Amino acid sequence: MRTQVGIIGAGPSGLLLSQWLHLHGIESVILENRTREYCENRIRAGVLEHDVADLLVHLGAGERMKREGLVHSGIYLRFRGRDHRIDFANLTGGKTITVYSQHDIVKDLIAARLQAGGKLFFEVQDVSVHGLDSSQPSIRYTRNGRPEQLECDFIAGCDGFHGVSRPSIPAGVLKTHENVYPYAWLGILAQVAPSCDELVYASHERGFALLSMRTPQISRLYLQCAPDEDLNAWSDERIWKELQLRCATHGDWTLKEGPVLQKGITAMRSFLVEPMQYGRLFLLGDAAHIVPPTGAKGLNLAAADVHVLVRALEAFYKHGRQDLLARYSEVCLRRIWKAQRFSWWMTTTLHRSPEGDFVNQIHLADLDYVTSSRAASTALAENYVGLPYD
Ligand code: APR
Ligand code: PHB
Repeated sequence: MRTQVGIIGAGPSGLLLSQWLHLHGIESVILENRTREYCENRIRAGVLEHDVADLLVHLGAGERMKREGLVHSGIYLRFRGRDHRIDFANLTGGKTITVYSQHDIVKDLIAARLQAGGKLFFEVQDVSVHGLDSSQPSIRYTRNGRPEQLECDFIAGCDGFHGVSRPSIPAGVLKTHENVYPYAWLGILAQVAPSCDELVYASHERGFALLSMRTPQISRLYLQCAPDEDLNAWSDERIWKELQLRCATHGDWTLKEGPVLQKGITAMRSFLVEPMQYGRLFLLGDAAHIVPPTGAKGLNLAAADVHVLVRALEAFYKHGRQDLLARYSEVCLRRIWKAQRFSWWMTTTLHRSPEGDFVNQIHLADLDYVTSSRAASTALAENYVGLPYD
């Protein structure tokens, strides 16, 4: 089989890329090693930057998001028992965020790809990449027990943090940057209406807590915990009790409780490699970078990589230009480092640090400053709704 762009992975990166290339008349094939059901039901974050929500509409995959997504024009920072609202719309000239589950985005994009006749193969095995430094790279894989080969002009490694693309780049080419945090998140999905109209990021001496949501009936809540926390030690009752303590306010606000539908631990790390390309292989999304979840940048960063690669491929196929492809990594990384900085800042500022009281007081002072200075609030708001693509 032959295609223009061979895409490994049917997560948000691979699906957005394939659908966007299709709008530009560029052909692609997606190879995914999991089942369609697995991809469509993997629970991840669910906050879209302003331009990413617009992108889904532009790609013809935004109808359900427009109907069911929750548009928020701010967030609350809660500390010392009081709420401080960061008014995104007011601070950024009308920009908002949309709360809509990542697995619903994946479902909508898969449906859009299939409806447009896209080639999308699930449950392929033994994926490997070849000829990366030639002009005709290829992907070998097994499908229904038979070995197959996909000849391509380019390969997009959209196969997440544990995929095969990044490790296929020869040793010595990539420089890795990494930061591991001394805490993790214990997250639950609960069948109860959100207790607040917008997301609440709560800093408390017992640790950070986040009140988020999926729908008007389903809440998503998180607690800072130890990186090696034993989930079995957390009964539903203990989780609610801890959330109540960390989210308590001086006002008459109450946290509504309900049946816990799902619980899990999310690790926290910052990771990126540079460059994000080697020969005709380009890395996108989690294959190239991971951010801690505070600030919800993961999916949004993937969309930004897709934006840069689509423009570069369009310039190549329409005008024979190679310069944008050559600069792919450089252009992506400039914005990614800013998102890394923001995710690191949100994480360290809001979590209780084991470094001790001095550091925790500095973080509280930071929160005081951010919520009392229009300039500092604007900086947070601009980063949260999404920095402009270059
Ligand atoms: N062969 C084929 N497919 C693979 C392979 C492989 N060897 N390894 C992994 N995959 C698939 C995975 O099964 C998954 O469906 O690649 C896909 C990668 O998807 P994601 O991990 O969701 O990564 P990405 O598309 O870059 O999305 C980034 O997802 O992890 C979140 O926080 C992250 O929200 C961000 C977004
Ligand atoms: C989520 O709803 O899962 C979520 C929201 C905001 C974050 C992280 C995760 O910063």
